[in-house]
Amino acid sequence: MIKIGALVSGGGTNLQAIMDSINRGEINGKIVSVVSNKADAYALERAAKNGIETAVIKLKDYPDRKAYTEGLIEHFKEKQVDLIVLCGFMIILDPSFDRAFPNMVMNIHPALIPSFCGKGFYGLHVHEAALKKGVKVTGATVHFADGICDNGPIILQKAVEVRDDDTPETLQKRVMEEAEWKIFPQAVALFADGKIKVENGIVRILK
Ligand code: GAR
Repeated sequence: MIKIGALVSGGGTNLQAIMDSINRGEINGKIVSVVSNKADAYALERAAKNGIETAVIKLKDYPDRKAYTEGLIEHFKEKQVDLIVLCGFMIILDPSFDRAFPNMVMNIHPALIPSFCGKGFYGLHVHEAALKKGVKVTGATVHFADGICDNGPIILQKAVEVRDDDTPETLQKRVMEEAEWKIFPQAVALFADGKIKVENGIVRILK
């Protein structure tokens, strides 16, 4: 059974989807620590309700981003995690984080990478950009973090139709329901079963 760490900043619906999947017995793993950069993140309540240990580690309590990243590395090394899931974590960490946990940090992004990703594309902004561009299909991507924002090996993607009357909010909700909450737990389950292989930056899913 793998040990999973999670980083959160907000509502934590993706964390909830992973916890629900674990509780249904679909993931051969357990979450050992949920860390938020914000004390009032609802994700922390969701974790506590599931009996999972939580911690608040704030950027402003460290001299700079590098030191903050070192603090998080130390925390998760201490917890001996096999996988770290970024469940709506809104801070870009120093690349040393992904180097410390190579192909062990999974991120969910609310678009089909390489569209609408990188610096500034997070949360509702991603859906605003998709609607502004007029794309007819968007979706979500689970990928490994590699030190460059939204750049690492793609694990799973799922497309979602864009409707004429969508607002950023309705599109965000549909992308979460139809894509994010499905593919993130699926990717974690594949990882826990040892079915994800990365070769030359490309993910192969083993049968
Ligand atoms: C999700 O839509 C996630 O894909 C996005 O933030 C939301 C967090 O929701 N992440 C990013 O934009 C990262 N670049 P949640 O807290 O309810 O899981």
